Amino acid sequence: MLRSALLAAARSTSTRRLVETTPLTTPVVGRFVAGNSLAEAVQATRQIVDSGRVVTLDHLGEDTLDAAQAAATVDAYLRLLTRLEEAGLTAGAEVSVKLSAVGRALPRDGERIALDGARRICEKAAAVGTTVTLDMEDHTTTDATLSILRDLRADFPWVGAVLQAYLFRTEQDCRDLSGPGSRVRLCKGAYREPASVAHQGRQEVDRAYVRCLRVLMEGDGYPMVASHDPRLIGIARHLAERAGRAPGDHEFQMLYGVRPEEQRRLAAEGETVRVYVPYGDEWYGYFMRRLAERPANLTFFLRSLVSR
Ligand code: FDA
Repeated sequence: MLRSALLAAARSTSTRRLVETTPLTTPVVGRFVAGNSLAEAVQATRQIVDSGRVVTLDHLGEDTLDAAQAAATVDAYLRLLTRLEEAGLTAGAEVSVKLSAVGRALPRDGERIALDGARRICEKAAAVGTTVTLDMEDHTTTDATLSILRDLRADFPWVGAVLQAYLFRTEQDCRDLSGPGSRVRLCKGAYREPASVAHQGRQEVDRAYVRCLRVLMEGDGYPMVASHDPRLIGIARHLAERAGRAPGDHEFQMLYGVRPEEQRRLAAEGETVRVYVPYGDEWYGYFMRRLAERPANLTFFLRSLVSR
């Protein structure tokens, strides 16, 4: 119930206005978002890389209906990639892109605009020697995202994508994307989805996650296990070993601010651990999804508002 309400609020403009008046310095928001500026994002990246983990950076933003805003987001990614190269961080840091931030939802030609924007980001990533992964948004956008992925991979075969285990379709999508060179970030799924397309119960989602993991681990691609769930991480390590994989031909991924000790522990054991680092002003939707994942976060957040 609470999860549903928070996910509905993630898309409500009035709640957004209310929550956004909270400065980013509010400890709970700051826990999940590396900062407003590029400099702060690069600084967080440097710290994570120095600690033996790697990074994927997300310039926050989503659902834009403004062509100028979509173009500005593409430019922000180009600046980010330039800065990562200047800082000597491209071996340890790639970028993650939400297609709705680069124009997919625009009423005229949205998909073409998003493809063009994503292509420019991929060209720059190739020039500086790193990679791009496409985030996955709600189920109404899955086909469009996978279609843009196919177009991009024709020129940039290393472009990765997120698949969400809670969707009924995902096991088949995993099969389709388990070939050589394919990079799939498997997560549980963070949006409010109807029972007609997605598993609703935690156990069903976890079981689906394991089925998808098995397909990816037994395939020829590069599985990216995006979860903080200790049980699923244990199963992933077991499946990787059973499939004859060694650390380095798959990786574990977690969100900035979530279970950092576990991130360091896995890295110390020789696993590749990538941290998803979001930054920028448009933190509202991202932050609300983090609250929805763990109701205890909401209590901390409300407490921090009261004590201001
Ligand atoms: P689960 O929610 O069961 O959490 C397991 C444990 O992890 C919890 O008990 C708690 O200890 C900790 N934890 C999890 N979330 C927490 C939080 N917010 N705050 C504090 N502790 C928390 N989704 C999507 O739909 N599209 C996408 O593109 C992405 N991309 C993405 C990238 C990466 C790198 C990650 C790790 C996740 C995503 N997600 C996503 C989010 C994903 O779908 C999912 O909502 C979260 O990862 C939470 O699910 P877990 O697998 O961690 O399990």
